[in-house]
Amino acid sequence: MKDRIDIIQGDITTLTVDAIVNAANSGLLGGGGVDGAIHRAAGPELLIACREIGGCPTGEVRVTPAFHLPANYVFHGVGPIWQGGGAGEPGLLRACYRNALVEASNRQLSSIAFPAISCGVYGYPRHEAADIALSEVRQWLGGHEHPRKVVFVLFNQPMADLYEQLLASKCKKQTYFSDGC
Ligand code: APR
Repeated sequence: MKDRIDIIQGDITTLTVDAIVNAANSGLLGGGGVDGAIHRAAGPELLIACREIGGCPTGEVRVTPAFHLPANYVFHGVGPIWQGGGAGEPGLLRACYRNALVEASNRQLSSIAFPAISCGVYGYPRHEAADIALSEVRQWLGGHEHPRKVVFVLFNQPMADLYEQLLASKCKKQTYFSDGC
């Protein structure tokens, strides 16, 4: 499992993977943060493609080509806005990761890159969000061949360090109870 998860610090728009996941909003009309970076790098065709889709509910994912990005697809995932944890945010964030993995598996993609969905403008507590991201991906990879590789792309080093620490502790627990991570 460990060889199927990479954690890097960087800019998701530069990655040559099959699909990058966008932290989008339900209107799919672009914005700031990673959404803005992806739209700038992909070019104006991306917004046209998003307009044709017409929106996406929170927790779900819509797929477009990646146009001028090095990736082949953009998976527009809409994470929850943090409202204190009592409005179903954990389940919606989990669903966002899982639905992106379903789309990757349906296309038998070999690689997909995730940003830290909802951890910016949407204010999700980083530790909780990272824990959801890693456990959802690990659970999926434990039962599916595709995607072969999942890359978590964190914009700053403290966030990348958090993901590394959490992944290491999950692997340690699993090794204790089974034959490896
Ligand atoms: N590559 C990777 N990660 C990035 C990049 C980038 N180029 N730019 C920003 N990030 C990181 C942020 O540092 C944060 O940790 O992505 C994470 C998600 O932050 P946001 O982009 O603000 O996304 P989110 O919190 O899900 O809020 C979504 O913000 O930009 C708007 O249109 C978007 O309304 C939507 C909302």
